[in-house]
Amino acid sequence: MKIHHIGYLVKKIARAAEKFEKLGFCAVSDCVHDEARGIEILFMKNGETVIELVCPADPDSQVTGLVKRLGNTPYHICYETEDIEKDVEHLAQNGYVLVNPPQPAPAIDGKRVAFLMNGAIGLIELVES
Ligand code: NI
Repeated sequence: MKIHHIGYLVKKIARAAEKFEKLGFCAVSDCVHDEARGIEILFMKNGETVIELVCPADPDSQVTGLVKRLGNTPYHICYETEDIEKDVEHLAQNGYVLVNPPQPAPAIDGKRVAFLMNGAIGLIELVES
């Protein structure tokens, strides 16, 4: 599967974006508030490489605990899939644990994303292409 983006957990989007600009990244979206997940998201690009800055926007968000524990850090790689249901099932049969079933992501044009975890490689995300 082709890599779609690298997800970065950050405490402050604007501060992180400014630092990524120094590495040649430019914002390719507005900062999106994903209310269902309680997070803010900004996509940036440098050549073919896309990063997603994710910041908790409310205390109950899925990433609030993670950012407290891990600080500012990359935390998932997202892969493109043509058939998200099929690939989720395939991975679930091969040692990946489904963390979040496919659901629309406002920050990626409403495309469905799913998160899976595996002890050997950590957290991954799938996005339908
Ligand atoms: Ni992501």
